[in-house]
Amino acid sequence: MNTRAASLLTTRGLTVGYPRGRGKPPLFALNDIDLDIEVGETVGIVGESGSGKSTLGNAILGVVRPTAGRIAFEGEDITHAGAARRRALTQHIQAVFQDPFGSLNPMRTIGKTLEEPLLAHRKLARRERANEVGEALLRVGLTAADADRYPGSFSGGQRQRIAIARALLLHPKLIICDEAVSALDLSVQAQILNLLRSLQQELKLALLFISHDMAVVRHVSDRVVVLYAGKLMESGSSAEICDDPQHPYTQRLLAARPVPDPVEQRNRHLAGTPAVTAPVPEVGCPFRPQCPLATDVCAVEPPVIRSDSRTVNCHAFPAHRVSGGESE
Ligand SMILES: Nc1ncnc2c1ncn2[C@@H]1O[C@H](COP(=O)(O)OP(=O)(O)OP(=O)(O)O)[C@@H](O)[C@H]1O
Ligand SMILES: [Mg+2]
Repeated sequence: MNTRAASLLTTRGLTVGYPRGRGKPPLFALNDIDLDIEVGETVGIVGESGSGKSTLGNAILGVVRPTAGRIAFEGEDITHAGAARRRALTQHIQAVFQDPFGSLNPMRTIGKTLEEPLLAHRKLARRERANEVGEALLRVGLTAADADRYPGSFSGGQRQRIAIARALLLHPKLIICDEAVSALDLSVQAQILNLLRSLQQELKLALLFISHDMAVVRHVSDRVVVLYAGKLMESGSSAEICDDPQHPYTQRLLAARPVPDPVEQRNRHLAGTPAVTAPVPEVGCPFRPQCPLATDVCAVEPPVIRSDSRTVNCHAFPAHRVSGGESE
């Protein structure tokens, strides 16, 4: 096991099975995931719908219980942390989701909503709380006066800024962004991504950036982890994964991304990308029914081919394809 001392958050063998009812085996939404997030680093999690991205975020947040494996934060095993410890951990680990409107009470001013985490975690006088709220709003490009307005009077992009301000209030070390820009128009998406990037650098924040959109993940991430059917297919630096994908699944994910050139887009379409949904075998590589390179050996567990920064879980890519790689 390769636990680096400096990691802010690590998961080892993290597995989550959801019960499927009497007599049926659980649905393994996450299977044996090793993840490291360093202080101030942005790790992107990408994969199609149902690949286990949110389950990973929710397991780290303590919302779902792991079936196996462990999660450590700053070296402390928090896999089975009790309610009180979990509550304390919310100071350090925050989240921003796709739909901020759902979590903003329409009857309360933004100021009142943003005060809530401060009331729960810090003993501050009213004026100090107002100052902190004003500062957080300024940090995300809003004004201190916006604290007196109600959620309904803000645009979608502004509401996402408010959600980010709320996540920042307790000065967390890690923010889990689960499809945080997916519901926004492209131009607003870009603004929010730039905001997250600059906050991350300014505040030395670590981000776990979950998205089904490779272009979005690439824009903000230092490293990228590709999931399929709950398994880690490939991980590496953002440039390695996006410019030189080695796993056939990552290659397909990148090819499926729409491109601005209509001729290239049509050619891709004609070339026929295989259907995204297919039965997932429980043993071996889950991608093998759709994989153009699959052989009999893929029906057993895929290998882990690993260099310092890169992991490729695929038999088709032997160790020598990964610079400085070693095979396990
Ligand atoms: N609470 C739950 N109970 C049972 N099954 C669940 C639960 N949450 C998720 N699942 C299943 O687990 C698998 C992974 O779901 P998850 O939400 O983690 O995927 P995702 O990658 O976030 O997908 P999306 O891109 O659609 O958000 C899916 O098959 C999903 O149906
Ligand atoms: Mg999800």
